Amino acid sequence: MTENSDEEVVSESQIAVHWREEEYYPPPPAFVAQANANDPAILDRFAEDKFPDCFTEYADLLDWDRRWDTVLDTSQAPFWRWFTGGRLNACFNCVDRHAAADPDKTAIIWVPELEEDETLYISYGDLLRRVNEFAALLQDFAGLKTGDRVTLHMPMVPELPITMLACARLGIIHSQVFGGFSGNACGTRIADSGSRVLITMDGYYRAGSITDHKVKADEALAEAARLDQEVDKVLVWRRQPGQYASATPMADGRDFFVDDLIGKYAGQEVEPVSMDATAPLFLMYTSGTTGRPKGAQHSTGGYLSYVAGTSKVYQDIHPNDVYWCMADIGWITGHSYIVYGPLALGTSTVIYEGVPNYPDGGRPWRIAQKLGVNIFHTSPTAIRMLRKVGPDEPAKYDYQFKNMTTVGEPIEPEVWRWYYSSVGKGQAAITDTWWLTETGGFLGSTVPALQPMKPGSCGPGALGIFPVIYDENRNEIPAGSGRAGNICIRNPWPGIMQTVWGQPERFLDVYYRKYNADPDSKDWHDWPFLCGDGAVRSEDGYIRILGRIDDVINVAGHRLGTKELESAALTVPEVAEAAAVPVIDDIRGRMVEMYVSLKPGVVPDGMEAKVTTAIETEIGKIARPKNVWIVPDMPKTRSGKIMRRVIASVSNFADVGDVTTLANPEIVEGIRQHVQKAKVDKGDTPRPLTDTELAEIQSFGNE
Ligand code: WT7
Repeated sequence: MTENSDEEVVSESQIAVHWREEEYYPPPPAFVAQANANDPAILDRFAEDKFPDCFTEYADLLDWDRRWDTVLDTSQAPFWRWFTGGRLNACFNCVDRHAAADPDKTAIIWVPELEEDETLYISYGDLLRRVNEFAALLQDFAGLKTGDRVTLHMPMVPELPITMLACARLGIIHSQVFGGFSGNACGTRIADSGSRVLITMDGYYRAGSITDHKVKADEALAEAARLDQEVDKVLVWRRQPGQYASATPMADGRDFFVDDLIGKYAGQEVEPVSMDATAPLFLMYTSGTTGRPKGAQHSTGGYLSYVAGTSKVYQDIHPNDVYWCMADIGWITGHSYIVYGPLALGTSTVIYEGVPNYPDGGRPWRIAQKLGVNIFHTSPTAIRMLRKVGPDEPAKYDYQFKNMTTVGEPIEPEVWRWYYSSVGKGQAAITDTWWLTETGGFLGSTVPALQPMKPGSCGPGALGIFPVIYDENRNEIPAGSGRAGNICIRNPWPGIMQTVWGQPERFLDVYYRKYNADPDSKDWHDWPFLCGDGAVRSEDGYIRILGRIDDVINVAGHRLGTKELESAALTVPEVAEAAAVPVIDDIRGRMVEMYVSLKPGVVPDGMEAKVTTAIETEIGKIARPKNVWIVPDMPKTRSGKIMRRVIASVSNFADVGDVTTLANPEIVEGIRQHVQKAKVDKGDTPRPLTDTELAEIQSFGNE
């Protein structure tokens, strides 16, 4: 436990944290001079007394078929309804209106992973044509209509935004599952969303070779069928039309190549469907603490307004910029800040197929130089990795970023400084944007031309977002107290998810139950939104995010629920019990370690590999554990709960604390010796943990 000099008793979520206050970095003057939001008046326009009407400034960036009657309807609190009475089409706003203004303007720049393959420039005019043709196919061939759900399991190719936009054109709710997720994970999401069409691709390049992706479609359909969801059509885009990259057979009457079908729809136009502002635009599944997938449902009008507005203010996107966000479109970052936000603003957005360090750590900077990228957006994991493999690479290339974003995990101040001075060459403003899948867009960030940066802090609440940090008893923890607590947002905002798809009770439970005192209240002041992160606020109002307070492990910016990992391990018949814990990793932030105990009489040989394979099959390679430890039993409380914080401490060489109240304290020392010796033998000993890391590990699972 972290030392507490005041000798006052603090709960786990209030653990005192100590770090040095970092210095401010003023925004570069050249950036400020040209920035979209460089007039401090914007801070007043979004002051709390202007809420909720302030957000019409974002909504006014869009073309509406019918203007809204009410900005924020709270009558079904906390199921907020933004811009009610308004009608619009998201595809029209991202494509048609820009194609009409300048059809030759570049919308998408696609960079295939192999460096010798040609970069593809897709103009707004071309994009409109391709979206129209695919929308016609969805309607006519796949029989899809407004309100239907369709699951996408696609890699980083232009066909992915084309598919999303074609769905949006028709009011079909898309649910893109991250391409790296396994077929099984895709199958559970197909079933949960009730999709009867799956759209996928045969293969794609990753780390230099083409992977067989279609094989996952067959696994997904089997899993969906097991969960009683029949899929009648699988639409398979081909990475190279006419050439099939997969070894999997195409199921007759079920699987169809898009390039075989699309010719029939050449030149066809489909009217964009005028959608209610509150109609769902898409689902994005994310990890929670129970096994059932949690589909964050995002709206058409509120969401699109919020991502357009925040892209303009925080990414500083102007129509003539070349903007590159290196995230995957399969995550919310890609939906909001590769596809919908940038295209709503009519800019050119870069999509890169592969991994950042292929074929070497200079690749991103070569891409930036070649394409003239001037806005760059990535994660701390990618920054750490690029810094490790090529600390001096950025200086070799002639590119200039005006604005850079980091997102997904806390960034260490020294890593931030490398990003600022080496990648940004000291001339780019950095926004450290903190937010969640559920929030649609940014919650915390500096307004880049108006507020100084501070390494390791995301900054204050974003415009119109009013954060508060509560202790367990809903007492506000004041800024500057040095104490951490549960960060909440006091107010709703247009980008907030509408509900958990098909599980409204879960939406209430997870995000509101803890701090809402009056479930019947229709006043938004009574509904603080629980973000699920521990955070501290310094005197200046800047927020430092410490990490998740729930049983979620953030691996390289991706949330993995302990329950999902444990259920995956339990699919191995010989496994009796399983527990997942985080280990601190200098590149990926956190990695997963699994502890499993086996059923009586089972021979442990080969069980580690079996558990690893099970996790890769159920979730995907991203969840691959760093180690699997076979233990005779788990440390447990007297009520039988696995003490994850004890094994997390063992894995991270931290003090296990007081274990005398456990039901089986005697086993802890044996586990510690076994695990730590094995780690020492592998050369896998960690650096000393920081106070905040120690606090996270020693309270993991909170029992
Ligand atoms: C969790 C949400 C939405 C962006 C991609 C991740 C962590 C996100 C930051 C940041 C520190 C961050 C939080 C959050 N996180 N951004 N700038 N600084 N932590 O979306 O998968 O829904 O994960 O990512 O812990 O709760 P996600």
